[in-house]
Amino acid sequence: MATKEYKTVLVEKEDGITWVIFNRPEKRNAMSPQLHFDMYDAVTDAEGDPETQVMVITGAGSSWCAGMDLKEFFREGDKNPEFQRKVGWASQEWRWRKLFTFPKPTIAMVNGFCFGGAFTPMIACDFAIAAEDALFGLSEVNWGILPGGLVSRVVTDMMTLRDGLYHAMTGDPFDGKKAAEMRLVNFAVPADQLRAETIALAKKLMEKNPSALRATKQAYKLVRNMDYSQAEDYLAAKGAQIKMQDRESGYDEGIKQFIDDKTYKPGLGPMARVNKVS
Ligand code: COA
Repeated sequence: MATKEYKTVLVEKEDGITWVIFNRPEKRNAMSPQLHFDMYDAVTDAEGDPETQVMVITGAGSSWCAGMDLKEFFREGDKNPEFQRKVGWASQEWRWRKLFTFPKPTIAMVNGFCFGGAFTPMIACDFAIAAEDALFGLSEVNWGILPGGLVSRVVTDMMTLRDGLYHAMTGDPFDGKKAAEMRLVNFAVPADQLRAETIALAKKLMEKNPSALRATKQAYKLVRNMDYSQAEDYLAAKGAQIKMQDRESGYDEGIKQFIDDKTYKPGLGPMARVNKVS
């Protein structure tokens, strides 16, 4: 499928990975209204695109994303509340709902600045890998607002109350190493290894059965808000659903390879995807 062109986002596809790149480097990839509309479209396109097996979100230049555009979203948007509401809707849709439930694995490759409103998509991705010298910050308190949208809510999913409150109330920035220490990102690596490490993780994910991966991420994220009885019933239904829908028949194939063929051990790695569909 040909890649579409956007004003503020670049999309590149290679070997099953779709790279969605914030592309306003001169504005440190701050999220303007146009960028929200472009991201909404780019993420929607990648959802149904068979070439996309893993989606990586990163930024052009020295920044991952410097948060909401203070000029175009806040100052100018405040004068046009109707338009601001429309942008706000698109911004929450792609930054949270679409990314959080994206049907394939997602990785935030945090190459530089990550501030304020950028925490939402970073946290919504299944994985986050940061450059050690990337700079994170809940900077809102520094200019007289609170971490809004969904930022305060989603940060509490990832940071402890102590760490989250500390950074939300002081606005102190922290680097990629510290973000990994606080478990806000999976790990941090030197900047010159960031792309290679991201590709290595994407390749590992592409070896797995896609139906099992999709169900695993959806279930893992959703059961957190269920009680035990609901979770038990939902997980049983979800398990039955993937057996029905899996075009690779992963369940039968996995058991066959372990019990009959004795060609692999599930505890030590993935089975061979002999019926590979994508
Ligand atoms: N909104 C609008 N414009 C932004 C922006 C934002 N969030 N972040 C950066 N920019 C713009 C700057 O205004 C500047 O534009 P100009 O060249 O027209 O003057 C340009 O991007 C470069 O920014 P600059 O501050 O010179 O770059 P830097 O590399 O020295 O510093 C940051 C980068 C990210 C530390 C700094 O720009 C910053 O603090 N940005 C605001 C971050 C923030 O608080 N975001 C939360 C919003 S919810």
